[in-house]
Formats: sequence, C-alpha cells, structure tokens
Amino acid sequence: MTPWIIKPLTTPEDIDAVVTIEEASFTNPWTRDMYIAEQENRGVSFCYLAQDPRGSIVGFCSFWRVLDELHINNLAVLPDFRRGGAASALLAYVLKEGARLGARRATLEVRRSNEAARTLYERFGFIVAGVRRGYYTKPVEDALVLSRDQLMDGLESP
Ligand SMILES: CC(C)(COP(=O)(O)OP(=O)(O)OC[C@H]1O[C@@H](n2cnc3c(N)ncnc32)[C@H](O)[C@@H]1OP(=O)(O)O)[C@@H](O)C(=O)NCCC(=O)NCCS
Repeated sequence: MTPWIIKPLTTPEDIDAVVTIEEASFTNPWTRDMYIAEQENRGVSFCYLAQDPRGSIVGFCSFWRVLDELHINNLAVLPDFRRGGAASALLAYVLKEGARLGARRATLEVRRSNEAARTLYERFGFIVAGVRRGYYTKPVEDALVLSRDQLMDGLESP
C-alpha cells in the first residue's frame, strides 16, 4: 500500500496540479481562477493534496467548513493512480480535520451513476440524505446528497 502524504494546498504549483487532476476527472472542471478565489476564503475553504513518496501530487480533496458542517466540494485522483488508496487517505484525513475544526457532520453531492465514488463514500459511513434533480450538467444528471453524522466518532484523542 502506498504511504500517501497528505498536505495542504499552498503554492501556485499546487493549484496547477489540482487543475490538471480536475481536467482529467470531471466534464465541468473547476478552473484555476476558481481555486485562486477559494484561497481568499480563509477559515472556510480548505484543500488537501495526496502526494506519492516520489513527490508527485496525484489527488486532492477540497471542502468548506461552515459552522458545524463540512461540505466536500471535490475529491479526485489522477486516472493512473486510482484504486491505490489515495482518495481513502484524503477522505480519512479531511473528515478528521473537519472534526478538529468543529464540524459535526459532512455532506456532499455525487452523480447518481458514479459507482466508484458512491462505494467509497459508503465505506466511510455516508448515507443518501436526498436528491437534487438535474443538478449536474454535461450530461444532465441527478445528484444524490450524501451525509455522514457524528464526525467526532473515530477522532483520536490528542
Ligand atoms: C472516486 C475516486 C476519487 C476514488 O479514488 P481512488 O483513489 O481510486 O479510491 P481508493 O483507491 O481510495 O478506493 C477506495 C474504495 O472505493 C471503492 N472504489 C474506488 N473506485 C472504485 C471503482 N472504480 N469501482 C468500484 N468501487 C470503487 C472501492 O471500495 C475501493 O476499495 P478497494 O480498492 O479496496 O476495492 C476516483 O475514482 C476519481 O477520481 N473519480 C473521478 C472523480 C470523481 O468522481 N470524484 C468524486 C466526486 S463526488
């Protein structure tokens, strides 16, 4: 199992890596300008990267923490590195970090047809909390709203 290193997005090169992963993963990717704008939203918007032992950034997870809720905006891994545990390492880290920041539950939207992501989130205790009809474009598709309560559970004591 690859020992993924999870670290925060800090540099313009980190944003380049995230945009590359976005473009390889989504039909409607977030742009560089969107990530730059997110960086201005300090204390609310966070982005963590998964780096392999040779220093390549292969995945990322971005989220907002508002009051007691963590909302995952994007989670993606470069196609050649999938099924290697990078997304699991990111998600485990982000849920723990969200709890540390005071979040009690996590929410996100996922395409109904996205079996890979749905299986991953189910393994992390997310359940379907609702449906947003026609939420996605390219192609139009429903979003399932997933939710995981009790984020503090499993958080190690300091
Ligand atoms: C979803 C995604 C982030 C998973 O990344 P990953 O690094 O491959 O995930 P992991 O290796 O940590 O997988 C953990 C578990 O998730 C499930 N899973 C992951 N990919 C799967 C697939 N293609 N089919 C079925 N289950 C899958 C499996 O249970 C897997 O465990 P296993 O490999 O021991 O069977 C990746 O497929 C991706 O980037 N997809 C495109 C972007 C996307 O859809 N993001 C989610 C937006 S909500």
